[in-house]
Formats: sequence, structure tokens, C-alpha cells
Amino acid sequence: MKPFVYVTKPIPEEVEELLAEHCTYEVWTSRERIPRQVLLEKIKEADGLLTSGTKIDRELLYSAPKLKIVSNFSVGYDNFDLEAMKEKSVIGTHTPYVLDDTVADLAFGLILSSARRIAELDRYVRDGKWTKSEDEESLFGSDVHHQTLGIIGMGRIGEQVAKRAALGFDMNVLYYSRSRKPEAEKKTGAVYAEFNELLERSDFIVMITPLTKETFHLIGERELKQMKHSAIFINISRGKTVDEKALIKALTEGWIKGAGLDVFEKEPIEKDNPLLSLPNVTIVPHIGSSTSVTHTNMLKCAAKNLIDGLQGKQPRDVVKELKQEA
Ligand code: DGY
Repeated sequence: MKPFVYVTKPIPEEVEELLAEHCTYEVWTSRERIPRQVLLEKIKEADGLLTSGTKIDRELLYSAPKLKIVSNFSVGYDNFDLEAMKEKSVIGTHTPYVLDDTVADLAFGLILSSARRIAELDRYVRDGKWTKSEDEESLFGSDVHHQTLGIIGMGRIGEQVAKRAALGFDMNVLYYSRSRKPEAEKKTGAVYAEFNELLERSDFIVMITPLTKETFHLIGERELKQMKHSAIFINISRGKTVDEKALIKALTEGWIKGAGLDVFEKEPIEKDNPLLSLPNVTIVPHIGSSTSVTHTNMLKCAAKNLIDGLQGKQPRDVVKELKQEA
């Protein structure tokens, strides 16, 4: 009998075809997030789960007597309760590699939009405020080229951001990571800096570190105060790596100049979040990997991981904390 897989979001036909060759499956086809109760019911029969962002916690794992693998179609896996997954010997996989360039492109979109005030001035033009000459000082932004970029979290995506910065914009690139990355240094010319030094020296700071217990609120009041008043802060990691209240204070009181944000402490962002009324912030709705080609590639990669896991093979992309148990 083929294993049964539950899929928590709509997926392209070609991915359904891939699944159909090896499994029986059911898809949550609504664009609304799957209600927890529905998932807890469906998971009872599932051998595998294809998902992204869904909380995989103890309650869910203990409602799933047959579950062998949870395959995330995202590179981040902060939705996994890793301890509980170890306890239940459930494999957890994610989708690295396929989205690196796409997420790095968005980082640059946010850098450029924040520095040159593209989103803000788009609203200005649409609101009919463009009545004066275009060299009006009030429309000036900051240069990106030849500035110093600090990258926090030098993984594969960080490397792609560094490459774009160094080759495309002649930037000086600093990075901070738990360990030094000699290969990335060689490939991109990025230079390792201690955390505090990076905060103090960078004109642009890009946050790409995964969300873990250690990186929760890694950027708070103290760190924001260390940044230059002219600094622009970009977050493409997870909202909870930054203390959002502190960031709002920093942007309101001018400790830093601006921000470009793809991720938030609460997603979707709440309607009364003060960030929404700050002109010096570019906001997008967690679209780091959101291009159709990359989305499909992530799903194909996740489906392959899932099928391998169900067939008793070692999937390529088991998350590092669960590798030995897989
Ligand atoms: C992921 O896949 O974890 C990222 O959020 C991409 O946007």
C-alpha cells in the first residue's frame, strides 16, 4: 500500500504528479491557513506531511502515530520542535540551495528601496505630491554603491548577498557568523567582523540568520543604538530575530535611518502595527522566495525529500539538528 501524505497548502500540478507516483495524498486547497483542528485530524492517518510554516509541536507529533517525515518547503525550520521530533524519531527536512539567489535578490530590492526611498516616493507620486522639481532635497536618499554592508548570518543566502554587493555595487562587505567562513571570504571578498564591530561600521545591515533560541531578539535596543544614525536595517530572516518594539522606537526616534522588512514578529502583520505608518520603512509580506520558478523548485525539492524519507532512503536535506536520527 502506498503511504499517505497530507499537504497543508495548494501545490502546482507537476508536484501533485510527482507525489501521485509514490503516495496517496490529500491537499488543503484553500488559500486560508489550515485550521489547527483540521490538521490534528488529518495527521492521524498521515505517514508524511508536506508543509511550510505549520507548527510541528509535541501535540501534533503525538496525534500522528504513523508520521515518519515532515518535509518543509522553506529553508527556515523554526516551526519544528526539534526535541519532540527527535523523541518521536520523525525526520525533518527543508529546502536549501534552490532559493538562495531569489532571497538574495529580495535583500537587494529592500536595500535599494530603503536607500533610495523607492516605496515611499512611489506613494508620494501616486498621491499627487510631485509638483516640484525632481532635484528637491526632500527627495534625496542614500547611496548604496561603495558603502559598507554588514551581513549577519553568512550561510548560502548571505554569500549570494555578498556577491551582489561586492561585484554589482562595489560595496565593502563585512559579515558576522558563529564561525568564520573562509570559502565565502575567498569567493566574495567579505571580511569577518565581530558582532559589535559590524553593527558600528555598517551603512547597511542585512539580517539572514536562522531563528533559534540563540538568535531570538538578537537585535534589540542595545544593538540598534550601536548602529550608525544613517544605517539602514534589512530583515529577511525571521521577524523574531529582532525585538520589533525596539526597532519601532529606533525608526521613530531616529537612532537609525530606515529599514526594509520582509518578516515580522506576527505574520500576517497586524493592521495597527506602528511600522505600517512609518515612512522610512519598506514593507513586503514575507516574499523572500516568492517567484513562481523558485516556489515550484522548492516544492519539487520538498516532495523529493518526502518521498525519499517515506521509502526509507536518507533525504538529501534533513535539517542538521536531526541528521543523526534520520
Ligand atoms: C524560507 O524559505 O524560510 C524563507 O522565509 C524564504 O522567504
